Amino acid sequence: MNADRTDPALLRELIAAELIAARERTAQLTEAVDDAELVAQHSPLMSPLVWDLAHIGNQEELWLLRNIGGRDPMRPEIDPLYDAFEHPRSERPRLPLLPPAEARAYAHEVRGRVLDLLAASPLEGAPLLDAGFGFGMVAQHEQQHDETMLITHQLRSGPAVLDAPPPPAAAGGPLPAEVLVPAGPFTMGTDTEPWALDNERPAHRVDLPAYWLDSAPVSNGAYQRFIADGGYDDPRWWTPEGWAHRMSAGLVAPLFWRREGAQWLRRRFGHLEPVPEDEPVLHVSWYEADAYARWAGRRLPTEAEWEKAARHDPAADRSRRFPWGDAPPGPEHANLGQRHLRPAPVGAYPEGESPYGARQLIGDVWEWTSSDFTGYPGFSAWPYKEYSEVFFGPEYKVLRGGSFAVAPVACRGTFRNWDYPVRRQIFSGFRTARDAEPRTGGGS
Ligand SMILES: [Fe+2]
Repeated sequence: MNADRTDPALLRELIAAELIAARERTAQLTEAVDDAELVAQHSPLMSPLVWDLAHIGNQEELWLLRNIGGRDPMRPEIDPLYDAFEHPRSERPRLPLLPPAEARAYAHEVRGRVLDLLAASPLEGAPLLDAGFGFGMVAQHEQQHDETMLITHQLRSGPAVLDAPPPPAAAGGPLPAEVLVPAGPFTMGTDTEPWALDNERPAHRVDLPAYWLDSAPVSNGAYQRFIADGGYDDPRWWTPEGWAHRMSAGLVAPLFWRREGAQWLRRRFGHLEPVPEDEPVLHVSWYEADAYARWAGRRLPTEAEWEKAARHDPAADRSRRFPWGDAPPGPEHANLGQRHLRPAPVGAYPEGESPYGARQLIGDVWEWTSSDFTGYPGFSAWPYKEYSEVFFGPEYKVLRGGSFAVAPVACRGTFRNWDYPVRRQIFSGFRTARDAEPRTGGGS
């Protein structure tokens, strides 16, 4: 999203293209399996795919046709079925959901009316309309559910049904292990990104001491050294809550890994394959990431440290939209949009490097940070409290940067994701950090 938003015709075109791209991806994910698989629950952690499909249409109807267009509900009786706050995912298969053909027809009908509404909309004059925000929010929402559906695909058993070419190789010579980010203030969050969500706002200055940050996410090879060194058997590396979870859940390796002789194998979208050592580690919980960092003599970066390394341009003292600048993500910058069904090897995407020399901050794997999910100073909920505010608190940890499963429209240097520290079916990895100067003691 970096087009000329002052021209309503161009903005309408851009919105339509984003809505259509999201629907093509939804179709790909829901047409890859038969109706029996669409209504099945592949994991108690996830909804049946057919729920996501009708929920996408229902939210689009609610925000665009009803809130912006002032239309009456098309099927008021189905609203409670697709309200994510009314029924936890584990209960959804037992609801009287629309069958696949009806769910598709409903979403299609909503979309037709939305495109008519868009064609006639001034795209200004109300907060939900200005710069096409409501439409942008709906396009991001559908893409976020496409990522959720891709997680369901990863959790389902059975033969592979999705395919994509491999990501690009590492390029531009070996990277230094870590990069230095000198002390100083930077601008975190945004006031100007037109489709930024409430939790990314407002922009504010944050002053950080100097720190070192891994120049790329932690690789499978490095993570295997943690395992081989007994990292999962040594409570020294784990927080008390993390150790309790490691014991009760029986964690011994990332999700989807299994050992065969001397080799680690992983299951990836229906393929069983050797774990590639040079790829960023994927499907680890916050507790595992935090334990690895402590074992390595390091720590997870804070959310502010992640964002400064990703956005701050020290020469101009300004924050960019992305590590490489303000241009929207292209295939040369980052592994986004499900173009590939795996992260790219550590050291790929030299054109996506940040001014401090860090790579792969955007795309590949979501990166756990040490920070709890909270509102920035001056936060105000928009357009509804359930978007972010109800999740603020220490029970959620922030993830940054997006994964190969995240669409460019739902990814920015300011974008914030959050989840429970036990979660690992998500496309989560991490990188580590350390203070540049030893902290001075507090009089002890
Ligand atoms: Fe949703």
